[in-house]
Amino acid sequence: MKKILVTGSLGQIGSELVSELRRRYGNENVVATDIRRNLRDKSDEGPYEYLDCLDPFQIIDIVKKYNIDTVYHLAALLSAVAEAKPQDAWNVNVRGLFNILEAARLYKLAIFTPSSIGAFGPSTPSVNTPQDTIQRPSSMYGVTKVAGELLCDYYHTKFGVDTRGVRYPGIISHVAPPGGGTTDYAVNIFYDALQTGNFKCFLKEGTRLDMMYMPDALEAAIAVMEADPAKLLHRNAFNVTSMSFTPEMIAAEIRKHIPSFDMTYEVDPVRQGIADSWPDNMDDSSAREEWGWSPVYNLETMTSDMLEKLRIKLKL
Ligand code: NAD
Ligand code: SER
Repeated sequence: MKKILVTGSLGQIGSELVSELRRRYGNENVVATDIRRNLRDKSDEGPYEYLDCLDPFQIIDIVKKYNIDTVYHLAALLSAVAEAKPQDAWNVNVRGLFNILEAARLYKLAIFTPSSIGAFGPSTPSVNTPQDTIQRPSSMYGVTKVAGELLCDYYHTKFGVDTRGVRYPGIISHVAPPGGGTTDYAVNIFYDALQTGNFKCFLKEGTRLDMMYMPDALEAAIAVMEADPAKLLHRNAFNVTSMSFTPEMIAAEIRKHIPSFDMTYEVDPVRQGIADSWPDNMDDSSAREEWGWSPVYNLETMTSDMLEKLRIKLKL
């Protein structure tokens, strides 16, 4: 039986990944950790611990206390936050990962680390972006993500650590809010459509980006960790995507459900600059071939599910 540690577990992805891992592997076998107070106290569902990934001794204490063999390492600063605090982003995203990899080397842990579309940059081919291609990102977030991909590959080849990961696109979900990224507009738009009927988009018309609905993101994380290692030609940073759209495309889809919905633009130059440097759509054929990646949701089915779930959450 796996004994799993999740870092950064109170964030957008961790809030749902912990529940899914507990459903599959048992509540007691999944230890949720973060540097935030656990306001949605789920201690009845499984263990929660304070863990700052910048402290290597704390990591090792928890690994030993719970006999951990697998880590889903989600602690990170996202793209817009990283651009505002580049020094902190380097520390959390690279030094935090390094501490986790060192614990993995010493205690033979398997590690899942998400990279991102942010690991690409303006010189990367932006249409059908290949699995292996130019990676010269222009954001601090991207710099940390490329460093993380390389570190994970290095720990695998040099020390035999079982490192695996995916390059997530923007994740759309309704449980926990997004943590300060460039793709957050694609979540915020649903709240505003339902609550006020109009939305100011911080990315401009025509900005096409890869996106994914949370159930597919959870499946990707668990499936790549369950994959037969003999079939993995790549290990870390598999391109994965399930839809690619512009602000006006998602607005049009929402309008099928809320005909009066109105969207205007108030462009944030920092996030627009980051978005412009990212791919329009990635080629995820390596993930499909090597471990059977096959997403369920597209723009249409994601939009109707998001609206249905948020209507319940917001009591509308
Ligand atoms: P998030 O910002 O919502 O959550 C990150 C969590 O990490 C927060 O709860 C925060 O408190 C915690 N944290 C910050 N510093 C920490 C530290 N020093 N020690 C321990 N915890 C710390 O992020 P998320 O959206 O859940 O993303 C998780 C991972 O997935 C990140 O690596 C991110 O880069 C990657 N990713 C996310 C998306 C997305 O759209 N959400 C897309 C691509 C990649
Ligand atoms: N959603 C993330 C961000 O915008 C992509 O990694 O930062």
